[in-house]
Amino acid sequence: MGEIKTIGILTSGGDAPGMNAAIRSAARTAISRGLKVKGIKRGYMGLLNEEIIDMQARNVSDIIQRGGTILGTARCLEFKRLDIQQKAAEICRQHGIDGIVVIGGDGSYRGAQALSRQGINTVGVPGTIDLDIACTEYTIGFDTAVNTAMQAIDRVKDTSSSHERCSIIEVMGRNAGYIALWCGIANGAEDVLLPEKYQYDEQEIIDHIIESRKKGKTHHLIINAEGIGHSTSMARRIEAATGVETRATILGYMQRGGNPTAMDRYYASIMGAYAVDIMLKGKTNRVVGYTHGQFTDFDIEEALQMQKSIDDYQYEVAQLLTI
Ligand code: ADP
Ligand code: F6P
Repeated sequence: MGEIKTIGILTSGGDAPGMNAAIRSAARTAISRGLKVKGIKRGYMGLLNEEIIDMQARNVSDIIQRGGTILGTARCLEFKRLDIQQKAAEICRQHGIDGIVVIGGDGSYRGAQALSRQGINTVGVPGTIDLDIACTEYTIGFDTAVNTAMQAIDRVKDTSSSHERCSIIEVMGRNAGYIALWCGIANGAEDVLLPEKYQYDEQEIIDHIIESRKKGKTHHLIINAEGIGHSTSMARRIEAATGVETRATILGYMQRGGNPTAMDRYYASIMGAYAVDIMLKGKTNRVVGYTHGQFTDFDIEEALQMQKSIDDYQYEVAQLLTI
């Protein structure tokens, strides 16, 4: 591996609040260490289209508090092709980019891995609201997203209680149930449906609603993870079976936007810096993680093979608290 003189930074996959803090940190750490920085717009798509800009410290001023990503992001399916990966590596060489910090989820890491196989140094930074990356207990954007969802659910709960309704609220997370579990506990939901745990037994939920009514509960809040889906049709079936007015709310993209929390700004800032610093130490094909109170890094291959699951005890607590 040659000396690193210039790094590129890109954001890829779904945007997440705190990505800007990571961009700012990676850029300023690199500049502070004497490197040149190039911003690559629109993820791998922008790399292929050579949407590459020079970045100075001032280009990342006043962004730490902003949601989204100033570089833009995209999904670029053709990046799975070897010839396209070779072309991307060639573009990096033409622009003098020795290494790239890739801020995104596990799909984006596969792209980073492909680039490192073509001789470009890469380090991934976990940027996704889904918290679904196994090698790390923290991903950029989750804290903001879960707080946004929690506040929205509080509001729905107010109206649900006033009307003595059942509310099904669908939160994001792709195939992972972390946002749903956290909201389930933080909002005091009566039921939490997670792709990792739910047995698809709607009758149990119906019985639970009828029981709760008998106990004098004025509302019944069901947090439904995106990976379960079908919230609207589920609401219709539940209303028909229980006689309790039931409404579905799908929170959607509001969970991806907004100003990042202090936690997202802080962790994203450390991770962005860490990514640059390990690259300067000669590491490549790595992904940054946070485990057991420490920032650390893993081989991308190893990271992609790790499995993550919902903790049984935490899920049990969510259920215990609904009495
Ligand atoms: P995330 O990074 O949030 O998981 P995606 O799964 O959509 O989001 O992946 C983001 C981008 O990463 C894709 O649009 C594609 O450009 C790239 N990517 C995903 N999987 C691969 C792969 N197997 N090989 C190369 N690039 C990939
Ligand atoms: O990965 C973040 C996420 O918001 C998921 O929770 C969701 O399933 C997905 O992205 C939506 O992707 P898109 O922006 O392509 O609709």
